[in-house]
Amino acid sequence: MDNQFAGKFPDGFLWGAATAAHQVEGNNVNSDLWVLENVKPTLFAEPSGSACDHYHRYAGDIKLLASLGFNTYRFSIEWARIEPEQGVFSTVELDHYRRVLAACHQNNITPMVTFYHFTSPRWFAAIGGWEHKTAADLFVRYCERTSKHLGDLVELATTFNEPNIPMLLRWMKTINLSSGIILGMEHQAAQTVGSDRFGSFLFGNAEKLRDVMIACHHRASVALKAGPGKYPVGVTIAMNDEQAAGPESKRDEKRAEVYGHWLAVAAESNFLGVQTYTRARVGEDGDLPPEPGVELTQMGYEFWPEALEQAIRYGYAQAHVPIYVTENGIGTEDDSRRIEYIDRALAGVRSCLADKIDVRGYIHWSLLDNFEWLEGYRPKFGLVAVDRETQTRKPKLSAYWLGNIAKTNALE
Ligand code: BGC
Repeated sequence: MDNQFAGKFPDGFLWGAATAAHQVEGNNVNSDLWVLENVKPTLFAEPSGSACDHYHRYAGDIKLLASLGFNTYRFSIEWARIEPEQGVFSTVELDHYRRVLAACHQNNITPMVTFYHFTSPRWFAAIGGWEHKTAADLFVRYCERTSKHLGDLVELATTFNEPNIPMLLRWMKTINLSSGIILGMEHQAAQTVGSDRFGSFLFGNAEKLRDVMIACHHRASVALKAGPGKYPVGVTIAMNDEQAAGPESKRDEKRAEVYGHWLAVAAESNFLGVQTYTRARVGEDGDLPPEPGVELTQMGYEFWPEALEQAIRYGYAQAHVPIYVTENGIGTEDDSRRIEYIDRALAGVRSCLADKIDVRGYIHWSLLDNFEWLEGYRPKFGLVAVDRETQTRKPKLSAYWLGNIAKTNALE
């Protein structure tokens, strides 16, 4: 590769790959999304089912990650498993996650734990989810219990994964919350759990979620830190590279609404997790469609690896705390495009480091091809392919290639 930023990364730089419980574990039957996936009508292309059976295969997956050269694994702990009924905590499931954490340590992998990655227990949705007046208390209690049981093995943690995504999706105009299919899906889900409501995160009211979750993040951070183990706690934010299109662009309004509140939260946290996939051109009516002629990923948005550098720069300028890239990746069937994407994204990271921006790690999304929420299993984000019939794992070229960068802690 020929770029001016080639060279070593700082000592101790974290190189990893990420997953989220619901997307890889399989049979997350007590979660709200399991209900939404399995009612009719549903917005989900297919149900998550057994996913990648990571719940049983975590040991092999973590070993594989280490053998490829990585030193960090970002994964989430599933609230719906740990507290399957309100107030009923499962020591057996907490012990399961102790084993996952222990497997990381045995393989010299730094575990970065997400305490909430889009899914809640179904009973939580049945009472109204994040909009219920006790929501924050309930989440904080789950954090307290979990950290008490696991905290000594955790090295880095984040409360929420992309709590700003409902707001971002609103700007991206990808989900219409009042569409018949969403209302029908929620109605059926409520009936399934015997309630008159079904409050899930992905289909929640963006402003209400934001206010509750911001208040909750601070309390949850205190709860996490009260456990054994003194690990840093941060928050991750979904960030595009917002580009102003035209003099009347609403870019700044969008930034304030989607990022402003959460970057202020990050400023008071131990670190910011930046999660970037693409750019967004923002015009006078909000986000514009992809620019004609620009390559698209399987998700339908632009192939724009340079977005990462801009998101890091913006996030750091606002929050002034250490940055971890906690997600960055591309849905594609063509692995050579993934290599190109990562190569250009990492050039951006190097450029930030050259400007003394405190970037401490790059964690790729994702370790495995997995359940991409509404899109089902079609988009392929993994460094490792998964044959879901046999559950066989096959690292792609990109896995060896990025693993080698991780091993040498340098761009070639
Ligand atoms: C989420 C992941 C998701 C990825 C790719 C992020 O918004 O945290 O769960 O799979 O993007 O779309």
